[in-house]
Amino acid sequence: MRLLIIGGTSFVGRTIVGDALGRGHEVTTFNRGLTGKDLDGVEALRGDRSTDEGVRPLAGRRFDAVIDPGGLVPAHVLRTARAVADSSPFYAFVSTTAVYQAWNAEVDESATTWPGVADQDGDPADLAHLPVHKRGCELAVEQTYGLGACLVARAGSIVGPHDNLGQLPWWLTRIAQGGRVIAPGDPARGLQLIDVRDLSTFVLAQVEAQAAGMHNVVPDGPNTTMGRLVDTCVQATGSDAVPVWMDEGFLLSRGVRPWTEVPLWIPDVPETAGFWAVSGASAKAAGLRTRPFGDSVRDTWGWLRSGGEVEAAPGTPPLGLAGEKEQQVLAAWDSAGVLQRRRTGWSGWAG
Ligand SMILES: NC(=O)c1ccc[n+]([C@@H]2O[C@H](COP(=O)([O-])OP(=O)(O)OC[C@H]3O[C@@H](n4cnc5c(N)ncnc54)[C@H](OP(=O)(O)O)[C@@H]3O)[C@@H](O)[C@H]2O)c1
Repeated sequence: MRLLIIGGTSFVGRTIVGDALGRGHEVTTFNRGLTGKDLDGVEALRGDRSTDEGVRPLAGRRFDAVIDPGGLVPAHVLRTARAVADSSPFYAFVSTTAVYQAWNAEVDESATTWPGVADQDGDPADLAHLPVHKRGCELAVEQTYGLGACLVARAGSIVGPHDNLGQLPWWLTRIAQGGRVIAPGDPARGLQLIDVRDLSTFVLAQVEAQAAGMHNVVPDGPNTTMGRLVDTCVQATGSDAVPVWMDEGFLLSRGVRPWTEVPLWIPDVPETAGFWAVSGASAKAAGLRTRPFGDSVRDTWGWLRSGGEVEAAPGTPPLGLAGEKEQQVLAAWDSAGVLQRRRTGWSGWAG
């Protein structure tokens, strides 16, 4: 097929470009030439989807399908879709499960989303409005192409080589440093992490079949646990790190911020009970296959070891606990454990 891939030089888009070339497609990328590098073998078009003038290079070009992996601003996606709608019959957009409003129970594709607006302009670095903006991007595609000619792939948390958010890379890097590492909550807490390569294979297979639809692209059920995440990082890095499993309430009371300071940690409270319980049933039925989580960890570590670096997009908050704060929290945990043992005679504190 002749494919136009918008962006295509960072993480998800880069992976899709590589896969598409491997599957024998002719690939044209469209980007500003500011982020990463176009892969060898593509036709690289330069342009900027944030202005009407910027999308002119797309005028008159014909493609069998367009794949838009990185759109963040509805007006930019609307402009792109309109620029190609007459000449390219199918549009695939990579969205996010962050479009759902409530996380207190399992969500499927029918769950209530944030109310996006298809022509809303904004700043791609404004991650505070990401859920509303991504929903607006979905609407921009749906309104331009119609539901029968577009794919909306709502990805969950993505892992794998070339990660540009950096959550799994943070865990690998921190554990590789060794020593006592804060580990949050219950090691048995399930996580749902989608490997970027499985996301890419799924998107391309749908595009090749021109299969319209909307799917949560997540493993259908937890594919790892917090405990296995830590263990596989220890194994992959060969580190002597020792996880110190801490009660979530204790971590929150010490001002440790979930998700940003301890990546991939979502407190196990009623409001987020469904965060790692997103239904992946429709993607599975449409052909999504997911690799073992250990492969994602091993290959991401391999990428980091070979010089790979997380090149975070503008607006992405820095991840991880500062070393000094980590030491203070560990010391406070040890003291709390000593006090507790003195009071109860119990000796079950981990780490
Ligand atoms: N990481 C996660 O856990 C996660 C979870 C769910 C969903 N997602 C979604 O996954 C997607 C990740 O995308 P990605 O960054 O990996 O895609 P990508 O296609 O690999 O990289 C983004 C591309 O967009 C191009 N670009 C940026 N601004 C542009 C503009 N104004 N005009 C033309 N091109 C422009 C960049 O190149 P230039 O800068 O050179 O233009 C770059 O090539 C996002 O949509 C995100 O919402 C991520």
